[in-house]
Amino acid sequence: MACHHKTVTTAVDPSIDLADLDFWRRPLRERYEAFARLRQLEHPVFFPERKVPLLRSGKGFYALVRHADVVEASRNPKVFSSEPAVTNPEPPGWVKHVFGESMVNMDDPRHARLRRIVSRAFSPKMLSNLQGDIEAAAKRIVDDLIAEGPRDFVSQVAARLPITVICDMMGIPQELREKVHKHVDVSTAYTGIRPSLPRMLRMAGENVLALFSLQRMVIRLGRERSAAPGDDLVSKLVTANIDGERLSWRELGSFFALLLVAGNETARNTMAHGIKLLTDNPEQRELLLSDFDKYIGGAIEEMVRYVSPIMQFRRTVTQDYDLRGLHLKPGDKVVLFYGSANRDESVFPDPDRFDITRDPNPHVGFGGPGPHFCLGANLARQEIKTMFRELFTRLPGIRAVGEPELLLSNFDNSVRFQGITF
Ligand code: HEM
Repeated sequence: MACHHKTVTTAVDPSIDLADLDFWRRPLRERYEAFARLRQLEHPVFFPERKVPLLRSGKGFYALVRHADVVEASRNPKVFSSEPAVTNPEPPGWVKHVFGESMVNMDDPRHARLRRIVSRAFSPKMLSNLQGDIEAAAKRIVDDLIAEGPRDFVSQVAARLPITVICDMMGIPQELREKVHKHVDVSTAYTGIRPSLPRMLRMAGENVLALFSLQRMVIRLGRERSAAPGDDLVSKLVTANIDGERLSWRELGSFFALLLVAGNETARNTMAHGIKLLTDNPEQRELLLSDFDKYIGGAIEEMVRYVSPIMQFRRTVTQDYDLRGLHLKPGDKVVLFYGSANRDESVFPDPDRFDITRDPNPHVGFGGPGPHFCLGANLARQEIKTMFRELFTRLPGIRAVGEPELLLSNFDNSVRFQGITF
């Protein structure tokens, strides 16, 4: 019989509270152990949320921790809606008014229209045109790394490539790039954490200004390019496609902001955790280096599975629905825990083992199957492959040193610092 388990949390283990920031402070290994215990339970567990100043306090959410549950919710967008927002806790209402909305927080038909327009940017042809730029950027990064000497893999390598690639794609002129870098640093310093009120106000203020200024910049570019289109992405987005569709100025601004948020931290954290995984698993590293082209594809999928750079996204239930015996009602929230789904022992044998030859590897690191599956997945793969090829070709001895310094977040599995040597 269907049941509504709103009070099950304590029955699990009071120390496991996914709605509490303290949980996300714990070492990764402990968090994965907690998820393993949650996966054993018969039903998804409900976690009530506390009230947080300035943030709309959610009613709480059911944690989807099994692979099958994350897949089921992802492929059923009519029941599991991405509106009003997929981030958890929900952003304050004014954010939407100020910045417009991004497609990741929309359902069809609005989502489908935007995805149709912007997916041109990620076609195989566009990606193959970008390869030369990605290689040049990777080469510059390794040149500088050799000149400076090894210190921090994040700031010297991983943080540099994705942002450069996004700027190349959008055709952001060189003189504006420093501004983009600075603003992105500010806006990604705040991800899913709940700091003290004064700190939050200050960060929110900086964040708003940073995003606002970036959007203004890209909209100005859009106006210029629509008058004199070039071969870049901005030109393509502001001139009509074959269906006569184009982005409005506001949509262009929101899309650029989404790319910077979605495409930056994710790829960089995969690489930063990746170098550490290859160091901690010397036999996997040797195998990769024995035939880079043969093994790199599998190695990247395994890094994305193992790291799960985005740890969670949320959905809102639109109609009565039974999920594995749990009765969900309209308005209920579910949170998809990708990192847990990616360690589900019923899908991935020996899930804590990093194995670049894992096959099949149906991880949900890029999201589950469905309309919101990561638009940038192939671009991310291409960036990571090019960066590691350049690194291992020119610095075959490169290795991580010490433990990574992680950012406190319930959203990005983010590395702030990772020592290296070569
Ligand atoms: C390893 C790197 C990456 C990971 C792990 C990742 C992960 C994800 C995930 C989990 C989603 C699904 C959202 C959902 O179902 O609600 C997503 C969506 C998205 N990603 Fe990525 N991403 C990565 C790289 C990138 C890059 C490089 C870009 C672009 C430059 C990008 C752009 C997007 C966009 C635009 C969406 C929204 C798609 C939609 O709503 O239709 N991502 N990504």
